[in-house]
Amino acid sequence: MAKNVSPKKVSLVVLISGDGSNLQAIIDAINHHQLDAEIKTVISNRPEAPGLRRAIKDNITTHVINHKEYPTRQAFDQAMIKIIDPLKPDLIILAGFMRILSEHFIDHYQNRLINIHPSLLPKYKGLNTHQQALDNKDITHGSSVHFVSHELDSGPVVIQAKIDIHHTDNAKDLAARVLEIEHKIYPLTIQLFAQNRIKFNGNQVLFDNKPLKKPLLWKNEQITNNN
Ligand code: GRF
Repeated sequence: MAKNVSPKKVSLVVLISGDGSNLQAIIDAINHHQLDAEIKTVISNRPEAPGLRRAIKDNITTHVINHKEYPTRQAFDQAMIKIIDPLKPDLIILAGFMRILSEHFIDHYQNRLINIHPSLLPKYKGLNTHQQALDNKDITHGSSVHFVSHELDSGPVVIQAKIDIHHTDNAKDLAARVLEIEHKIYPLTIQLFAQNRIKFNGNQVLFDNKPLKKPLLWKNEQITNNN
């Protein structure tokens, strides 16, 4: 569908801290008409984040809100809210955003805040997920897209994708293969939201209007619903 005749585009604000390869995947999906979305702005807490250049290259407005310049987490979050609110986005997308958000920020954007985390949640919340999967001799690893709740990496999971762990893998290998699947499932999740197939009512994720007890599984380029 041509970009300018799309019936309803989901409007996004994307928060980044680093490379922004997930941001790039979202930009590419929009430009290839696979995602009916519009990025209103990209906000980075790090002035040197390479992801900012990806946004600028695509003529997307960017903002740097350097967390080091704010005395408290609340003040930093409030500065983001000041930028985000006038844009009235449908979704706020955390794409490698490495700051813990205040409860106020999370409540303010309740049901509209999603994150991608490089593990099969509830396994391995926080950092160093790839090394933890290796240390525990897991045979599979992956990524999860979830709504954000107060507790870190703990909100309801919408979709997961798995990869096999090979005995020769190190954390870098795993990180690279996890990123590959993230670049598929993040735009896909946003598109499901744009199509109104995914909703979140504060407690429960609904997929096609039915509660999702288990996350959707993405495999072989397709979604499986095992609920
Ligand atoms: C991704 O692996 C994502 O799951 C995690 O941070 C990484 C961000 O990568 N939250 P990028 O900045 O999108 O390249």
